[in-house]
Amino acid sequence: MSTIKDRIALAQRLPKAELHLHIEGSLEPELMFRLAQRNKIDIPFRSVEEIRAAYDFSNLQDFLDIYYQGMSILRTEEDFFDLTMAYLNRVRADNVRHVEIFFDPQGHTERGVPFDTAISGILTAFTLAKAQFGVTTKLIMCFLRHLSEDDAFKTLAQAEPWLDRIEGVGLDSSEVDHPPSKFERVFAMARERGLKSLAHAGEEGPPDYVREALDLLHIDRLDHGNRALEDEALIARLRKEGMTLTVCPLSNLKLCVVEDMAAHPLKHMLDLGLKATVNSDDPAYFGGYVMDNFRAVIEALDLSEDDIRALARNSIAGSFLADGEKRAHLSAIERA
Ligand code: HPA
Ligand code: ZN
Repeated sequence: MSTIKDRIALAQRLPKAELHLHIEGSLEPELMFRLAQRNKIDIPFRSVEEIRAAYDFSNLQDFLDIYYQGMSILRTEEDFFDLTMAYLNRVRADNVRHVEIFFDPQGHTERGVPFDTAISGILTAFTLAKAQFGVTTKLIMCFLRHLSEDDAFKTLAQAEPWLDRIEGVGLDSSEVDHPPSKFERVFAMARERGLKSLAHAGEEGPPDYVREALDLLHIDRLDHGNRALEDEALIARLRKEGMTLTVCPLSNLKLCVVEDMAAHPLKHMLDLGLKATVNSDDPAYFGGYVMDNFRAVIEALDLSEDDIRALARNSIAGSFLADGEKRAHLSAIERA
């Protein structure tokens, strides 16, 4: 067996896709300070160190409170552009060739920032990053599940002029007590509009929420999905359907979804034949980007070269790229 160092080098070398990334969660403290200054907004922190020290979470809600506070400094189209460019520039170093990015329009419209301001800044960065670095991107709009169904319908209406630039809809924010069934009708309308369907499920919520996401939202991809492992029938179904799971190891550790990295279920998921992938979720808050996540699981779970290649393949195969684009990336993985 090769050394851990060799296996980390393999993970680095393989072309990869990131499929679970909230652009607002890539807001690094340094950029937060810069934007706060530019927009003349007071923030309750005096230094980058103070901000990082505040990132100590005991569950999802702890994190979300700080996450919504952090994103409140995003005001102008330029802010969203700078945020997105910083992320796309950063992941080049990890050999991430394709990204499917979530954004939370309601986190902005709720505080008076127009939908169009946020999406324009993000999409301009997508175009420039493709031209400058060759990275490809897709955009997924999430509904905040702690808000109402009616609010989600309003957000879908705001997205109407942009539908040719939006790949799908997702479901994020506080999971427990906000099951997928709450959004069945708005997801049905989104699918009628040709959008893909995704949902965070089984991060803190029970296996039944994963089942609802499959049966009621007809998801094309499952975000997190950890707690599906508590249910044998559900495991068999996810395997049979070839469902991609976007797993986020450092996020799971920081939000206490797992006790320590050695107890992370990623290796078990692969051994069960599930199509797991490695993602950063909210890299500025959880301690790192895609390669930081790979490094953590390779070390803690002693992943093999085959595991690492499977994770890279799953990320491409589970993306919404066209078949020809997938084939090109997959053959580059085989050659690497
Ligand atoms: N879970 C739910 N909602 C989120 C997350 C997450 O990990 N990150 C940003 N919004
Ligand atoms: Zn997430």
